[in-house]
Amino acid sequence: MKVVGGSSSEMITKDILNMPGFEPVDVKIIRYPDTECYVRVREDLSGKEVLVIQNTYPDENLVELLLIQDAVRNAGASRVITAIPYFGYARQDRMFEEWEAVSARVMAKAVGRNTDRVLTVDIHNLKVMDYFDTEAENLTAMKVIGRYLKENGADAILSPDAGSKDRARIAAETAGLDWDFLEKTRLDGETVQIKPKSLDVRGKCVAIVDDIIATGGTIINSANQLKEQGASRIIASCTHGLFTGGAIDKLAQACDFVVSTDTLERPTSEISIASVISEAVE
Ligand code: R5P
Repeated sequence: MKVVGGSSSEMITKDILNMPGFEPVDVKIIRYPDTECYVRVREDLSGKEVLVIQNTYPDENLVELLLIQDAVRNAGASRVITAIPYFGYARQDRMFEEWEAVSARVMAKAVGRNTDRVLTVDIHNLKVMDYFDTEAENLTAMKVIGRYLKENGADAILSPDAGSKDRARIAAETAGLDWDFLEKTRLDGETVQIKPKSLDVRGKCVAIVDDIIATGGTIINSANQLKEQGASRIIASCTHGLFTGGAIDKLAQACDFVVSTDTLERPTSEISIASVISEAVE
């Protein structure tokens, strides 16, 4: 299978190209001085299946993805699979207020138009998959995260709430670790207790796993309380490390270790999702 990795996804692309059966497409992707993107495929792709890997975040990467898809089609590709490691705008998945743009739907229509199949990874809400007009599948990084957490000393894996408990369950079951989800209980007007539903964290290294870490607020609040409850170590982990507003530094103060996958390339991107994508296209 031929592979084009866009500029958002160089780590994943490099890892995939080290696997048997994947070959790079000769492609030129540049930004003009005015920042507009230019893409040209420099080989005939007639009859070839092509895997395109690129995020839709931030906005310039969406434009780059649309141009890569067009160039690959123009070069004759018979089948195009678009892997979007981090699908930006997924959180605006409906009208929360009257007459808002449904951003996730707009993006899904745009990137699904010129491809035969779309792959996303731990998309915020699975409902977004219905917005694609082409075959679309959401993959999960939770198995590779679970294995990594076990290798790095985690005893148990927690999700930040009941709604996301399946992520912790998948990660933990893969790694053979305990798992649970955190519950919030209002104790009085000013105090909210955050505690695992039933797991006793005393003396344990616990990893909190989330799909996205943005400000870090969700995990920092939980980490502080888990330490008070006797956890020996806290690992903050996620698929998509957005890390807005100095989140990595803030997390480093509350947690012993912060790790994310390479869907967004960050200093914490120690977990590769290349195998998750390669297995889905084999
Ligand atoms: C929420 O629904 C998500 O799964 C994450 O928990 C949330 O995006 C994390 O945001 P923050 O890091 O800003 O607390």
